[in-house]
Formats: sequence, C-alpha cells, structure tokens
Amino acid sequence: MPTRPAAYTRTAVWLHWAIALLIFAAFPLGVYMHGLALSPNKLRLFNYHKWIGITALLLAVVRLAWRLIYRPPELPPTMAPWERSAAFAMHLFLYVLIVAAPLSGWLMSSATGFQTVWFGVIPLPDLIGKDKEFGRFLVELHRNLDYLLIALVGLHIAAALKHHFFTHDNILAQMIPFLRRSDR
Ligand code: HEM
Repeated sequence: MPTRPAAYTRTAVWLHWAIALLIFAAFPLGVYMHGLALSPNKLRLFNYHKWIGITALLLAVVRLAWRLIYRPPELPPTMAPWERSAAFAMHLFLYVLIVAAPLSGWLMSSATGFQTVWFGVIPLPDLIGKDKEFGRFLVELHRNLDYLLIALVGLHIAAALKHHFFTHDNILAQMIPFLRRSDR
C-alpha cells in the first residue's frame, strides 16, 4: 500500500480555504436575502448569492477530484479508533454536503424558473424543467442542506481547535502551514 504524504498539497489547502470562505459568504447572505421583501435589491442579492454558490460548487467538484487523486496525510497515532471513524464520517459528510447544498440551490432555481447566469455573463443550463410544486420542495431541501452543512462546519471547526489547543497535535497546522511547529 502506498505511504501517506507528510502534508496536504498546496492545491488542497487552497481549495479548502477558498470553499470555506465561499460558504461563510453564501450562508449569511442566503439567510439575509431570504428575509427581504421583494425588491430590485433582493433580486441583486439573489444573483450574488447564486454566483458565490456556483463558484463553491465548482471548487467542491475540483476538491473532490483532487481528494481522489491525492491522499491526505496520516492522522496522528495518538487518535483513538473512534476518533478516526468520527473524522472519516465527518469528512465524508462534508464532501457530500459541499456538493449537495449548492447543487440543490441550482436545481431549485431551475425548478422555480429563474435561470442562473454566472457572474451575469455565463448562462448555466437549467438542470430540470419548471415545476412549481417540486420547486417548493427544493427550497426546503436547499434550506435543510445549508443548515446541516453549517452545523457540520461548526463541529469541524470545534474539532480542529480541540486538536490544536488541547491535544496539541499537528492537525490544524496541516491546513494552516504557518502554525506548523518544528518540534513535531
Ligand atoms: C455553498 C453554497 C450555498 C450555501 C451555503 C447556501 C445557503 C443558503 C441559505 C442559508 C439560504 C437561506 C435559506 C432560508 O433561510 O430559507 C439560501 C437561499 C437561497 N439560495 Fe442558496 N446557498 C448556496 C448555494 C446556492 C446556489 C448554487 C444557488 C443557485 C444557483 C442558490 C440559490 C438560492 C436561492 C434562490 C435562495 C432563496 C430561496 C428563497 O428565499 O426562497 N444557493 N441559500
């Protein structure tokens, strides 16, 4: 079996932070714009939200492909078997959700009859035909997936901080290279 690399590739680190940033932009914007009364401003924010979300989806697909080609570094030997299983399950769910959440937004836009034009320049194909009833279901699905995604991101951050400040291993430093300690 091939041995694991000592660190993530630079591309994997870049993709990780770019996707994180886009999720942290899309989520609060989605919550804010949803509560607005219909106005040109609301429609403008819907477009910004869709552009950010589609960019996140694109990078998530690249990230997934990258992950299949380049194996991540080994987890620290101090981690108990249950911690390894929990980390594996968490990462798997996150990979699924960073694709499923924005994809549900795209599907919803198609079903509700609002085509997505990426950055106002590239018209994306509608993934499904207009369907009011299914559109309503997809609005709910998009919301639920978004809240699940942000909850798991919260847990993921809490676990990373626990490893850095309490377990004192190199897990967080693998994604933030300037945190790397020379003694580990
Ligand atoms: C990482 C990606 C994304 C995140 C985290 C995200 C998050 C959210 C959140 C939190 C809401 C508010 C839900 C609510 O309170 O009901 C929302 C609404 C919305 N999202 Fe996304 N979204 C993402 C991607 C997308 C994409 C790719 C599209 C379409 C191309 C999209 C289209 C919409 C639309 C149209 C709404 C408004 C629904 C409504 O108010 O009826 N989203 N999104």
